[in-house]
Amino acid sequence: MNYKISYDDFRQKFLDFFVSKNHKLIKNSSLIPENDPTVLFTTAGMQPLVPYLLGEKHPEGRRLTNVQRCVRTVDIGEVGDISHFTFFEMLGNWSLGDYFKEEAIKMSFEFLTQVLKINKKELAVTVWIGNESAPKDVESYNIWKTIGLEDSQICWCEDNWWGPAGITGPCGPCSEMFFNTQGEKCSPTCGPLCKCGRYLEIWNDVFMEYNKNSDGSFSKLAQQNVDTGMGLERTLGILNGFKDNYETELFSAVLAKLAEISGKKYQNNLRAFRKIADHTRTAVFLLGDENGIAPSNIDQGYILRRLIRIAIRNLKQLEVSGHVLAELAEIYIEKYKKYYPILETRKDFILHELNKEEILFNRTIHSGLKELAKVLEKLQSNDTIRGEIAFKLYDTYGFPLEFTEEIASEKGVKVDVAGFNKFFAEHQEKSRRGAEQKFKGGLADHSEITTRLHTATHILHTVLRKNFGQDIKQKGSNITAERMRFDFSFDRKFTPDELKFIEQKVNEVIEQNLEVQMEEMMLEEAQQAGAIGLFTNKYDKEKVKVYSVGKFSKEICGGPHVKNTSEMGHFRILKEEASSAGVRRIKAVLE
Ligand code: ALA
Repeated sequence: MNYKISYDDFRQKFLDFFVSKNHKLIKNSSLIPENDPTVLFTTAGMQPLVPYLLGEKHPEGRRLTNVQRCVRTVDIGEVGDISHFTFFEMLGNWSLGDYFKEEAIKMSFEFLTQVLKINKKELAVTVWIGNESAPKDVESYNIWKTIGLEDSQICWCEDNWWGPAGITGPCGPCSEMFFNTQGEKCSPTCGPLCKCGRYLEIWNDVFMEYNKNSDGSFSKLAQQNVDTGMGLERTLGILNGFKDNYETELFSAVLAKLAEISGKKYQNNLRAFRKIADHTRTAVFLLGDENGIAPSNIDQGYILRRLIRIAIRNLKQLEVSGHVLAELAEIYIEKYKKYYPILETRKDFILHELNKEEILFNRTIHSGLKELAKVLEKLQSNDTIRGEIAFKLYDTYGFPLEFTEEIASEKGVKVDVAGFNKFFAEHQEKSRRGAEQKFKGGLADHSEITTRLHTATHILHTVLRKNFGQDIKQKGSNITAERMRFDFSFDRKFTPDELKFIEQKVNEVIEQNLEVQMEEMMLEEAQQAGAIGLFTNKYDKEKVKVYSVGKFSKEICGGPHVKNTSEMGHFRILKEEASSAGVRRIKAVLE
């Protein structure tokens, strides 16, 4: 296949096709889900559609299409080969209780063979083999046969079940479409399940008629949905005759820049070039998201930090010194800003954060690498690095676990992950206790006014996170009868207009007369319910208290709080100032 189609044309062709089939083009959602505590990132186009797959009416109708940016980090270790990415765009079409298997498969086939002009002989598909939860998908098998595939092109497969994206939610059997990248088969039985890897998956039609419940069981949904997802990078590569997806126009300028900076050739340094290209692109999109995050040591921020650090270490391997991630980021911003104008809006932040992380990590990476080299010197292939050492590399030099694993694997050495986790857990426990002590000291008394101010800190915390980034975290609080003081991670001063806006938002919440409720639950449940909190520690086996202010905020906290926000009065900010590096402080009163 050597079709030559540009990124712009390909996107457009997909959307035009589904619009011509009466689908509505819907907006692209943030990579950081706002209302789904069961996942860290948007990993598929269906994720923002979960309420509608479950039966809620979508304002745009029952046939939808779009291109959704996605981040998946489960495959982070695979990045470096020809087809894995941590960020990708997913082309998708959905039926919310409208058409089902027959129309979905027919449209997929028409798009592949009529619009993209893929020869049907180069295609193969998989269908659901069935189990105790859902029967074998004979219907899809028959539809593929009716529209022109041979038996040998249709494989029964036990992996053809997709979802839910998080722990619970819509899911169902699927039928995946593959393209034979080499034309020839390696043996008569060669196909999508063959180890030779010539068949690449390009599209997945999921027939979502089940819901996975929290007890692990499946129930039938009220409606039969279709959720499809086509990997843009892979299909673009295939259409243009590239075996290596990194040869597409999406990466060419970045790889050329890397070659120029390093004086090295892509072909001789495939894995390092690809990792840098992939991880930098993902970092650009996470930093440049409307709910953008900054590198940190927890949650999404930690994943972002890991990606950036792995990119930096691969730059070191190419013997590149100085700061270059921002330079590469600018190329991506140029390439994608047409579809994601937010990248341009947040450009300064993206570049600033990448530079900052490079400076920070460059300070310790050198000593850390030396330390690791010393450890590796004493080990042979198949030996294991002790958990304690991997933890020291993490704690002292900022080496994410995967980072140590990546370097060790070059010598065939493994890392004791369970051991690492044990030390990590102990460390978390210690810092949790320390922070709790500090926090207890912060709440001076339990008088009526301090109780009111305490509830105000929760509302302020959530207002800040909702409007200025989910990465904002409470760093401390001190409440007296005169005022509240709230410290939180944030990188810059707020403008007077922003302070007014924050004040107004807090007052809007107060004025809704929301009930404040307390529930006790296990920490893990609290996290799953989306509660935020300073002391989250997944190893904690104790129950925690979770305070909810209406549906607006949910936070793990010891209390006490008002019963209803109507008791609180009017919130006014007295002052905003720096507290320490990267931490701002707001002082406020209730009047
Ligand atoms: N949600 C399906 C997938 O990600 C389409 O493969």
